[in-house]
Amino acid sequence: MLIKRSDGLILPSDITPRAVFESRRGFIRQLAVGGAASAGLIEMAGREAFAQGLNPKLAAKLNPAYSALDKQTAYKDATTYNNFYEFGTDKSDPAQYAGTLKPRPWTVSIEGEVKKPMTLDLDALLKLAPLEERVYRLRCVEGWSMVIPWIGYSFAEIIKKVEPTGNAKYVEFISLADKKQMPGVGSRVLNWPYVEGLRIDEANHPLALLTLGMYGETLPNQNGAPVRMVLPWKYGFKSAKSIVKIRFVKEQPRTAWNQAAPAEYGFYSNVNPEVDHPRWSQASERRIGEDGFLARKRKTLMFNGYSDVASLYSGMDLKKFF
Ligand code: MTE
Repeated sequence: MLIKRSDGLILPSDITPRAVFESRRGFIRQLAVGGAASAGLIEMAGREAFAQGLNPKLAAKLNPAYSALDKQTAYKDATTYNNFYEFGTDKSDPAQYAGTLKPRPWTVSIEGEVKKPMTLDLDALLKLAPLEERVYRLRCVEGWSMVIPWIGYSFAEIIKKVEPTGNAKYVEFISLADKKQMPGVGSRVLNWPYVEGLRIDEANHPLALLTLGMYGETLPNQNGAPVRMVLPWKYGFKSAKSIVKIRFVKEQPRTAWNQAAPAEYGFYSNVNPEVDHPRWSQASERRIGEDGFLARKRKTLMFNGYSDVASLYSGMDLKKFF
């Protein structure tokens, strides 16, 4: 990642404070009723919501088995301190510029080594499995972390539906790359589209979350609307945003950050305090909104504390397969 050591938590001053628009929530709630809302209503509500910094409500039942007890990051921090290079490289760029992204209508095509390739629109994705709220820690490779109540379901539900063939060894996640909607796609900072990937057993792990919302709402544009992955045991860049295509493939995918800097960003990118980034230590992290900018107080945990996943990597040298 392009690290700017000097950038503080500079929040765009033109974002309406949450309290100011709180009174408009009732109106938005009436427009959108969980996953059952019609496309037209969500689209209308979506435009209104973006203008106000609010998004349509999305109902989901908390899954305590998959939820961290850590203090949750403030909504404002989670939606104004982002990495979404399609909208610029500064942390404040996505909140400022992602209003041009049109998350409705949207389709995700699922193809490659599957018996049942399919194209799913957002309503189909919302209805594919019961939505759960899961409070996950997300640790960015840059050394900061957040704790966010995401909404979605295990990616394993998608795998079940499309029935991979025996040749499917990996899954590739491909983000939208539309210059008209995404001003950063004109830049040469990465090879577009943004591509990420997992081994199929990693993708099948119940923690791998196909994500459609956060904080009880549909995803804000800057957080990867309308659909993204969240992989809490891996560095944040593995969790591709605004996904339009998912491919089941034989070979390990060539991922965006790995192509840009192979010595710095490996394919696996599991959170690992014992394997430093070539340019900085990964032993500790700063929790956004809690730890001071200069103080890196918090110890980073192996697999970001999600030790369940360890069996996926038994016998692997994680220094080599970083
Ligand atoms: N997905 C796309 N398409 N483009 C990006 O630039 N940034 C990644 C990841 N997914 C990125 C992306 C990085 S580096 C991180 S840390 C997380 O998104 C940040 O997610 P958040 O902004 O919702 O916290």
